[in-house]
Amino acid sequence: MEKILVKNSLHLRGTVRTSGAKNAALPILAASLLGTEDIVLEDVPELKDVEIMTEVLKSLGSDVKKIGKNKFIINSKNLNSYETKYELMSKMRASFLVMGPLLGRMGKTVNSLPGGCNIGSRPIDLHLKGFEALGAIIENNVGDITASAEELTGNKIYLDFPSVGATENIIMAAVLAKGETIIENAAMEPEIVDLANFLRKMGASVTGAGTSSIRIRGVEKLTGCNHQIIPDRIEAGTFMVAAAITKGDVIVENVISSHMKPIIAKLKEAGCEVIENDEAIRVIGTENPKAISIKTLPYPGFPTDMQAQFLSLMTQLRGNSVAIETVFENRFMHADELNKMGADISVEGREAIINGPKKLKGTSVKATDLRAGAALILAGLVAEGTTEISEIYHIDRGYENIEDKFRSLGANIERVDRE
Ligand code: UD1
Repeated sequence: MEKILVKNSLHLRGTVRTSGAKNAALPILAASLLGTEDIVLEDVPELKDVEIMTEVLKSLGSDVKKIGKNKFIINSKNLNSYETKYELMSKMRASFLVMGPLLGRMGKTVNSLPGGCNIGSRPIDLHLKGFEALGAIIENNVGDITASAEELTGNKIYLDFPSVGATENIIMAAVLAKGETIIENAAMEPEIVDLANFLRKMGASVTGAGTSSIRIRGVEKLTGCNHQIIPDRIEAGTFMVAAAITKGDVIVENVISSHMKPIIAKLKEAGCEVIENDEAIRVIGTENPKAISIKTLPYPGFPTDMQAQFLSLMTQLRGNSVAIETVFENRFMHADELNKMGADISVEGREAIINGPKKLKGTSVKATDLRAGAALILAGLVAEGTTEISEIYHIDRGYENIEDKFRSLGANIERVDRE
């Protein structure tokens, strides 16, 4: 079994480049099912989740070729299936994103219920409500969900919660529907803007992405295009926290500063120096950082995908820090792992109180989900001795070359294969 070993590595220093965003690449790969001509995608991160999505596309009849580092050419002219296999669906929740495009392109899609990170119940009711509003009939047959429609027709859809995946799935179903669709209370994440930009290049009419009201006018067909995936704001944020927690000095390149506002604000509040340049952010840690509070919210609020990494940071801040998780119901499993390392975190419901600073000690810990895994690496950097992280397949789902990148900043981190 592969593990990551992290040894105490204070004062990380240097420059690291952020990869393309996982959460933009996945819906964009799914959306490539809508096109009938060649699509070239650049800056696609090499991740387990991306690998699974390309397998899903191939299983549906797409021709997917890797033509260089982080570069793919995809042609979905000859789709021959609207059904995704259970083995693939169960590996990754985001496989569900093929449902919207398949419904739009083929008029039917069959999928088993999705798998993915274990961070609370993750229903898909909003996705299905959206498809229904467009005229699809939904059937649930022992875990196999079928959506089908003779013809999809645009409609007004109000989302009870600005779900990222539901917003993306509904956009992708609506781009080939007849007439106009308006999604109200839509998610506003940058990855949705990237998806809309990609779809527009293919010939779709999507306006308002990045606001809470997205308008889609159906078109006859979508063709091909070239597109570069936006930088991963969560990966960038993880390295920014690495600078803060190790009291180091790190420049993170290939970032869009406007996507990083809550992270920048909170690091500054803790006492770090944050310098924003064109496409780069420098974070200089402080010797005596102070406690902060965070509350996760849909974009532009503080991202839930950065909560775990901040919890690690908070163990090193002076005073009581508070983290409130409003997006997912069960996303504090890393708190127990951090407590094993000597942290003092008490969790009640959706709120964690972190009493710091605490001297952490390296021990055996488990990556309970993707971002929890990143949080343990960060904690390992400041812990005495060696931190041994297991179940690192979670980390590989979402971080490209994570050990190399940390090593380039001076971290003592390695991957080993042992019991
Ligand atoms: C996406 C991201 C994930 C991130 C999350 C929130 C991808 C591939 N993943 O996940 O990294 O943590 O956004 O920023 O982009 N919900 C419902 N019904 C639904 C759909 C969602 O109740 O039909 C609830 C979920 O249970 C959860 C909340 O809405 O509590 C947020 O989920 P959502 O925004 O849909 O997240 P994902 O798209 O799954």
